[in-house]
Amino acid sequence: MSKLLIDESATITLAENLYNAMPEDKAGWTILLTGELGAGKSTFARAFINFAGHIGPVPSPTYTLIEPYDLPSGMIYHIDLYRVIDSEELRYLGWGELDHGFCLVEWPDRAPDLAANADLNVEIHYEGDSRRVFIHGLSERGSFVIQEIN
Ligand SMILES: Nc1ncnc2c1ncn2[C@@H]1O[C@H](COP(=O)(O)OP(=O)(O)OP(=O)(O)O)[C@@H](O)[C@H]1O
Ligand SMILES: [Mg+2]
Repeated sequence: MSKLLIDESATITLAENLYNAMPEDKAGWTILLTGELGAGKSTFARAFINFAGHIGPVPSPTYTLIEPYDLPSGMIYHIDLYRVIDSEELRYLGWGELDHGFCLVEWPDRAPDLAANADLNVEIHYEGDSRRVFIHGLSERGSFVIQEIN
């Protein structure tokens, strides 16, 4: 599906709609966030994490690579691989534990294994001062969720 996101609040609303369209138990799900620098990937991730019940700041994981959120609704891992040049660098990060949580991944092209097992790709493009989003289903359950978004 494709949708015009007229301003930042539309990006936030989309994140909330996607959260609500997904099952309550999101463990094991992965959403890829793609698009150019400054497209709004972190805006989307922040809204999603706040909507899941996190109160407080959502710092960029650009330097830490992973920011975990232990929420009543389950673990959320916000991942930003922008600084990763070689997927070998990811080998020591303890990815095993991520299987039990829900992952939001910016710049997933740096980690092909993670991307290969994802459920949805939220692809954001510039359109004038606004943005256009394309949401692609990468798994059966991911494709199903897209039909529920309004
Ligand atoms: N739909 C929208 N229309 C216009 N501006 C938007 C929209 N959504 C988000 N923005 C703005 O885009 C800017 C960049 O957002 P953000 O940091 O989320 O991008 P990013 O894709 O995570 O960037 P990076 O590639 O550096 O990680 C912010 O100023 C945000 O307010
Ligand atoms: Mg970002």
